[in-house]
Amino acid sequence: MAENILEMKNIVKQFPGVLANDHVTFTVEKGEVHTLLGENGAGKSTLMNILYGLYSPTSGEIWLHGEKVDIHSPRVAIEHGIGMVHQHFMLIPALTVIENVVLGMAQNKQILDLDKAADEIVALAKKYNMKVEPYQMVENLTVGEQQRLEILKALYRGADLLILDEPTAVLTPQEVDELFKMIRLLTSEGHTVIFISHKLNEVMTISNRITVLRGGKSCETVLKGNTDKHQLAKLMVGREIDLQRVEGLPDLGEIVLEMKKVECMSDKGVKALKGLSLEVRKGEILGIAGVDGNGQDEMLECISGLRKVTSGTITIAGTDSTNEHPRNILARGVAHIPADRHKRGMISQMSIKENLMLIDYYKEPFSKNHLLDWKVIEDASKRMVKAFNVKTPSIETMGGSLSGGNQQKMVLARELDRDPEFLIAAHPVRGLDIGATEYVRERLLEERKKGAGILLVSTELEEIMTLSDRIAVIYEGEIMGVVDVYDATVAELGLMMAGSRKVELDATTY
Ligand SMILES: Nc1ncnc2c1ncn2[C@@H]1O[C@H](COP(=O)(O)OP(=O)(O)O)[C@@H](O)[C@H]1O
Ligand SMILES: [Mg+2]
Repeated sequence: MAENILEMKNIVKQFPGVLANDHVTFTVEKGEVHTLLGENGAGKSTLMNILYGLYSPTSGEIWLHGEKVDIHSPRVAIEHGIGMVHQHFMLIPALTVIENVVLGMAQNKQILDLDKAADEIVALAKKYNMKVEPYQMVENLTVGEQQRLEILKALYRGADLLILDEPTAVLTPQEVDELFKMIRLLTSEGHTVIFISHKLNEVMTISNRITVLRGGKSCETVLKGNTDKHQLAKLMVGREIDLQRVEGLPDLGEIVLEMKKVECMSDKGVKALKGLSLEVRKGEILGIAGVDGNGQDEMLECISGLRKVTSGTITIAGTDSTNEHPRNILARGVAHIPADRHKRGMISQMSIKENLMLIDYYKEPFSKNHLLDWKVIEDASKRMVKAFNVKTPSIETMGGSLSGGNQQKMVLARELDRDPEFLIAAHPVRGLDIGATEYVRERLLEERKKGAGILLVSTELEEIMTLSDRIAVIYEGEIMGVVDVYDATVAELGLMMAGSRKVELDATTY
């Protein structure tokens, strides 16, 4: 048996009102890739932040190489050879690559020799088949490059136990392959990797062992060879689930959204959409795949009238809606499940019944002669809460005090109750547990069956591939191509997500 290099014993972390880790036990062997698998909120990041010295545990012990240790700061963690790449990178964009690497290392009081460090980091990168330009500004790096830099930085500081917190969330499938190659190389050299994920395909690809966290508790550690995706999903959620696509392709109806060569500017004043064209038909789900930040947000804002279109046209349900007032657009049978439900979808300090009326309060039957009819509003709210299974003591409860999944159900109830012809669903299951995810997916498929056209935006390829009828890939403000779901392959979508056009791919024979 390999040596246990890390033992976390009975770790408890109590945040105000949240027991994030509940007597977690986690043991890692030298040279393995050990995955921490769990749904959103299961306590994975918390456990690793404790190991990295960012949080102190409420109780519990950490043992490294058979000795009990007290890791009260990241500096101590680094001294023990622990490195961590966070879910959200911690690089400073306005500094160069090499400045980011040495930043915070000057504690040994010696004069910093940037050129020497630059040579060392280039050599280190080369060893892992990577290229770095030490004097490049970090803001000019792609997300994938920034991630590799974070890993290099940890290695440069002597990490032999590397924690990667959801590293694939921001990568294209090809970049994921590259990352996995690097992980394999690291472990072949005797490094140990803790890999955090909730994506079962990846977990089955890269892990040696898998520990599942559920609701803050460690429920089981399994060998990859002794398990499968089905069992892992069940461990993660605590019951049987079925997230497979069941529906066949729909009969396509008329066009409900048509975007023609749409252009717009980003908040930073650069072109965010560069002649984007697409169509959504009634009865279909058109999925927009792409790495975050390629114009998805701006596209949705243009459609809903929240961002100025500088050229091109947007037609909704046959009516020109380019630069139309948002309320007029909603009145055209459009419903919107926004990406950021706290900013756009709901008002935390308002009651559930008020939140349910946010869009249509001024219309009959909720208002008559400019007066709200509270009886009608309350009856409708109770009906929606029941139909959408929003778990709440009453409709008077503040929206903000619901759990994330129930907030999303509330938004869904309001939007779907309007019987939309066209539904915009932006990251509709982001941050939800699998139970709520399943529910939201069912409701979307139900709307599609009723004949609504749905535009689904997500950065999770698996979600796009299991829900959509057609998939359009967005890259730097343009659509690289559209494929029917049954023809789609991860490889092809991945290449388009990295900027290849479908026509170019079709012309190439592999
Ligand atoms: N700094 C914090 N303060 C309060 N609650 C927190 C904090 N960090 C995490 N939590 C809560 O702890 C739980 C576990 O979170 P986290 O460890 O981030 O889960 P995961 O990484 O598995 O998604 C969640 O309910 C989260 O809201
Ligand atoms: Mg996390």
